[in-house]
This record gives sequence, C-alpha cells and structure tokens, in this order.
Amino acid sequence: MKKSFFVSTPIYYPSGKLHIGHTYTTTLADIMARYKKENGYDVFFLTGSDEHGQKIEQKAAEAGVTPQSYVDTIVSSFKDLWKILEIDYDRFIRTTDKDHVAAVQKLFSNLLAQDLIYPSKYKGKYCISCEEFLTAEQMDEGFIHKVCQKEAIDFEEETYMLRVSNFKKYLTELFETNFLEPEARKKEMLNNFINNNLEDLSVTRVSFDWGIQVLENPKHVIYVWLDALSNYITALGWGSEDNSKLKQFWIEGEVLQYVGKEITRFHAIYWPVMLQALGLKAPDKLVSHGWILSKDTKMSKSLGNVIDPVEIIETYGADALRFYIANNLPTEKDGNFTNDLFIESFNTNLANNVGNLISRVSNMIIKYFDGLLPSVEIEQHPLIKSGEQTIKDYQKYMDQYNISEAVQSVLKLGNECNKFIEDVKPWALEKAGQISKLNEVLAILQRNITIIIYLLKPILVKSFEKMFNQMGLTSNTVNFETLKAKKFNYQKISSKEVLFERIK
Ligand code: ME8
Ligand code: MG
Repeated sequence: MKKSFFVSTPIYYPSGKLHIGHTYTTTLADIMARYKKENGYDVFFLTGSDEHGQKIEQKAAEAGVTPQSYVDTIVSSFKDLWKILEIDYDRFIRTTDKDHVAAVQKLFSNLLAQDLIYPSKYKGKYCISCEEFLTAEQMDEGFIHKVCQKEAIDFEEETYMLRVSNFKKYLTELFETNFLEPEARKKEMLNNFINNNLEDLSVTRVSFDWGIQVLENPKHVIYVWLDALSNYITALGWGSEDNSKLKQFWIEGEVLQYVGKEITRFHAIYWPVMLQALGLKAPDKLVSHGWILSKDTKMSKSLGNVIDPVEIIETYGADALRFYIANNLPTEKDGNFTNDLFIESFNTNLANNVGNLISRVSNMIIKYFDGLLPSVEIEQHPLIKSGEQTIKDYQKYMDQYNISEAVQSVLKLGNECNKFIEDVKPWALEKAGQISKLNEVLAILQRNITIIIYLLKPILVKSFEKMFNQMGLTSNTVNFETLKAKKFNYQKISSKEVLFERIK
C-alpha cells in the first residue's frame, strides 16, 4: 500500500493582503508536499483562510461592506498569489465553507455532550488583532500585547469553556515526545502554560456575530480559534458522511503541520486537546518556525511593515522566491528578507553556482562532443561518490523536514563540481588531445548535475524541466530510483538557454 502524507499551513486571516511571512510557511509546505510525492507518497496538502471573528467583522465595517463580501475579495487575492507561486495545494479551505461550518457545529456539540465544554463566565484581557486571551506575561505595561504591540481590551462575557485543565497529564506525556520542534519552543510551552496553571479556554463569544453559531445556544458564536483549528480535520471530512480521507491522511498517514511561532500555543496545546477529546492523534510533527523580521520586528499585516511577494515574483520569478525561502530561512530561527539579501543569494547560488555550472558543462558537451557523450566508466571517481553521498544527506535532512540543510548539501555538490572544472581544466584536456579523459570529466559532471537538478526539483518548479533539457534529459525519466540505479538516458544536447541570469 502507498504511504500517505498530510501537510498543512495555518489558515491565514483575510484581514489584509498576504506578505512574505505567509509566503514563507506556504512555500515550505509546498516543497515538503512535492518531496513526498517524489518518494511515492499519496499527499494531501491543505491551506486556506480563517474568515470569522471580531477583527474581520471590524475591518469589514470600516470598509463599509458585509463581512462575507469583504473576505471574498481578499481570499481571491490569496488564491492568485498561490497560483503565481506555483503552490499546488489539494484543498483551500475557507472557514465559511458550508461543510466546515456544519462540522464545527457538530464538533462543538460533541464536546458539549462529553461535558468537555461547559457554560461559564470569563473575565480577562483579550487581543482582538490576534484573537487571543492573554496572560499577564504576554503583555507589557499598559496591557500592550508583546507580539503585535496592540492594546488588549477588557473582556467579561458569558461564555462556554473548554476543559483544557483536564488534559494536563495528556499534554505532559505528549511533550515528552518529539512532536513539537524546535526544542526551545517546547520548553517555553511547558514553562509558560502547561506547568504553570493550565487554564480552561473560553470558546464562545456573545458580543459580536461574525462566526459560527452555537446550535444549542444561538446568541453565542464559536471562538475563532476553535473554528480555525478544526479546519485541519473538517477539510478531510471529519463530521461528514465520508471520512475516508480522514482515515487515510490523519489517522493512518504521516501528519506534518507548519505554523509560525506566535501561534504555537494554539497548535501545541489547544489543538492536541481537541484532537484527544475527539479520539484522534496529535500531529506527528508540528514545526513552529521563526519570524521573518523587518529591521528587528516581526513583519506583519497589522504593523504594515511588509514586503509584497507578488512584486518579488513578478520581478524575479516564482523559483527565485521559492529558492530564497528554502535556502536562506532555516525554520529554527528568525530570518531576514531584504532586496539586497535576496539578490545576493540569487546571484551566488542560482546564477553563479548552479546556473553557470549547467551552462558551462552543456556548452562543453556540445562543443567537444556534438551534444552527446560516449558512455564511459566513471563509478569509482571521488566526485561520483560525493554525488551519491549528497543524495543520502539530502534525503536525511528532508525526512527531518530540514529543507535549508538539504538545499545546502546540494549547493555544496555544485561548488565541488565548479571547483573540479577549475582544477582539471577540460579545455586544456581538449588542447592536449586527451579526449577520453575529457569524456570522463564531462560524464562525471553531467551525472552530478543531474543529481543537483533532481534534488532541487521540489523548489525550482518552473525551471527544472528546462534544466533537465539542458543536460539532455526529460524530467519524467529521473527519479530516486533511476538516480540510485544510475540509469540515465541522455539525449543529444542542443539547448543553450541561459538559466538564472545574474541580477544586476
Ligand atoms: O494567525 N514571519 O493567521 P495570520 C514568518 N488565522 N511567518 C509569518 C510572518 C512572519 N513575519 N507573518 C505571518 C493566524 N507569518 C490564524 C491562524 S491556524 C488554525 C489559524 C505566517 O494571518 C506564519 O505561518 O496572522 C504565521 O503563523 C501565520 O502566517 C499567521 O497568519
Ligand atoms: Mg497574526
């Protein structure tokens, strides 16, 4: 039976246009989805939009339109962005989708019937911008929420509460596993929340309307996070007639979820509690990645200090942006995105290292061998061994969801190939009439370039076909099996297109 893989991004608020931060998470998920497909998995890649809540209701009122028409416009811009970035999701879930709404009502009823949700009253501080109840430690003086720098409001409402406090033992055990990465975030969750007064969570609101109604008590709408987190399973058919996808991808599949670090608490605490209450497993892996900063603060819709991915894609192409994200922004720390850094990385890695390597080697194969190398024995060469090792390293890192290390192992091979050219000087071999040696050198390079292109295929989704053509291959003949079997059907090379032209 085929193995199954589920990967998700957060569902983003349509409270404004998306920026590089959202593009970051979604691109990581897309790369992992494509990598797993290359490994023969059945993949379900989920993304979407989180459309309810007080903030959206306020934004729509400011714009003088209904919340539904407000979100419709913004959500279509989300989809446009994903299209030009070549994001190949299997479902785009909207929390206003009918099947989601019905399933969330059912989920609420289920927990209410189990007495895991109970009617109560809640008094505390609330951040509307983040739709989050805040503890004292989350605020600076003047009740300013540290994450978004907005003032929290006083909140006192009749509300239903989720019995999170019942799940302390479950969470403690869950946190003994490696389900959450990185390790530092695990400690933070344990110290700040789980081991420090684990409180029940308010899960309904009565002071606004834009949300999913509680069937048992229609003046309540369901708290935006209970609604939003549920998307990961309602999208797979939880609560519907057909739960075959839920079974295949969540229950029996490998589950990977990407989130930004500011929403770790929801995904590492409340979400596993909800799942456990429904008799479902926690995600196998929750990767909580760092922020893309602008100067020293988080790039965010509410602060307005953002870089527009559409401009980057229109100027430099989807692959250039996908590459920067994959290579330059390791998930375990905060990263930077500036035009200068972006251009420098593009020129160093794509133009000089990879692009230049491909064009030098294809030109030499055309010039010295009319585009087709006679077959020759190369298996014992150290650089062939390097190529084999690179495949192993890359797979090891990708299987740990460590995309940037994986890419760096590929770039390292590119650098070794470029250095090999400088050292052996193929043009001098030709002058000296050492044709069989020249043949061998170019065959070694052609093999390693094939590996480089294949390993970058989940990232360079618009270019890989052209890159393969430039090596005399069509992409559908290369996969992990052919790589390992070392069986390639090189055709005569004629293409001389320049890939990744240097940005000036
Ligand atoms: O939180 N750096 O939606 P949201 C890195 N609707 N990633 C960033 C980022 C940055 N500067 N800015 C945003 C919500 N992101 C909820 C989620 S899920 C059930 C509900 C990315 O529109 C990152 O993935 O505020 C972050 O967690 C997410 O966008 C927040 O998007
Ligand atoms: Mg946010």
